[in-house]
Amino acid sequence: MSTYPTIPLDQYVEYPVEEMRERVTAFYEELDRRRTVREFSARPVPRDIIETALKAANTAPSGANLQPWHFVVISGAETKRKIREAAEVEEKEFYEHRASEEWLAALEPLGTDSNKPFLETAPYLIAVFLQKFGQLEDGRKVKHYYPVESTGLACGMLISALHAAGLATLTHTPSPMKFMNEILDRPISERPFLLLVAGYPADDAEVPDIQRKKLQDYVSFVEE
Ligand SMILES: Cc1cc2nc3c(=O)[nH]c(=O)nc-3n(C[C@H](O)[C@H](O)[C@H](O)COP(=O)(O)O)c2cc1C
Repeated sequence: MSTYPTIPLDQYVEYPVEEMRERVTAFYEELDRRRTVREFSARPVPRDIIETALKAANTAPSGANLQPWHFVVISGAETKRKIREAAEVEEKEFYEHRASEEWLAALEPLGTDSNKPFLETAPYLIAVFLQKFGQLEDGRKVKHYYPVESTGLACGMLISALHAAGLATLTHTPSPMKFMNEILDRPISERPFLLLVAGYPADDAEVPDIQRKKLQDYVSFVEE
């Protein structure tokens, strides 16, 4: 049998059932208020808030604990401008040629198009990269397991943490996103995963009038 170092689970907290109910309900209601915002204010946000949200992201479970992600936090106007320019080229191509009729129909209720002014307005862009493999200091490669699932979970936690801080986010996926490696000088072993726009919403921001599925429409229970 293999042996490995362990520590006591000191941080675990159990709650009485009624308190569990209250806590999970409060957590759900907090998350239910989150909306993807596409109109941002240029108001600055202290960087330490973004850093703490990134610490929350890094608590995500990951395949074999390899934490196969890298986040680039962009606040500089010049880099934001380059990203906007490159993203709009790809998005124009997407909306005018690449997207299927079906895809465009699915996007219609969101009112999105190839103009992405928020990529320059918002105080922060967080470029998320998925590391297909890691690299040891001597250059040897380390295989990463389930990097897609792991990075997706980290992004969910990041979005939730920024929301908890009172910030708005937009999960943006200009397609394809290879330009992010070039502009941000990231190695080809890292795949651009998504671009998270973060900041305060614009004062007059509006969001699409869309619905979330009801519990019975996306959950089934097996009790025997
Ligand atoms: C993987 C992923 C990619 C997305 N890509 C875009 C995008 O490129 N542009 C955009 O405006 N919204 C994008 N969204 C946001 C979705 O449109 C949004 O989450 C969805 O409409 C539900 O709205 P809500 O987040 O306000 O609940 C993306 C969301 C996810 C999870």
